[in-house]
Amino acid sequence: MHNDIKQVLYSEEQIQEKINELGEVITRDFKGKNPLVICVLKGAFIFMSDLVKKIDIPLEIDFMAVSSYGQSTKSSGVVKIIKDLDVPVEGRDVLIVEDIIDSGLTLSYLVEILKGRNALSTTIVTLFDKPAGRTVDLEVDYKGYILPNEFVVGYGLDYAEKYRNLPYLGILKNEVYSQS
Ligand code: PRP
Ligand code: MN
Ligand code: MG
Repeated sequence: MHNDIKQVLYSEEQIQEKINELGEVITRDFKGKNPLVICVLKGAFIFMSDLVKKIDIPLEIDFMAVSSYGQSTKSSGVVKIIKDLDVPVEGRDVLIVEDIIDSGLTLSYLVEILKGRNALSTTIVTLFDKPAGRTVDLEVDYKGYILPNEFVVGYGLDYAEKYRNLPYLGILKNEVYSQS
């Protein structure tokens, strides 16, 4: 375990098991559709790559980079588009892939944008959900694990851009963020 991690919440194996389940359900629900699967960069990049391998239907992928947290552990409330999609979403069934939903601001903003561009449907899948952080109403279609209100890192999730490469989800030691 990394020295800055206080506790492992979900192991690599537990995460892969959950992704297998999510992939199966999504495969079943999207049969006959050709969804555009959108990865919300950066945090969702690892989940995206593991999840699409478990979705056994034709699909297309694209990436969008948005950021609301910057260097902080709290959401700024302002969502910035850093990289937009390459393809139009008009008339498409869109599946948005997110690593974690906390306040819900990032995704409520994203869903509004995609609806405004006339997506046929917008569906959300998140690997982790932290319902205690929610400040806006958001309908989440597929959730992996429900988390306690702790600052977590790993499996794509960062603190000040670090720890994304940890293969598990862990709770960061308090002294790591009080130092900076
Ligand atoms: C994190 C996380 C989600 C979002 C969730 O992204 O990856 O996208 O915050 O928080 P919210 O529900 O309160 O909006 P971040 O803005 O840190 O960018 P990153 O993915 O590049 O790390
Ligand atoms: Mn993110
Ligand atoms: Mg982040």
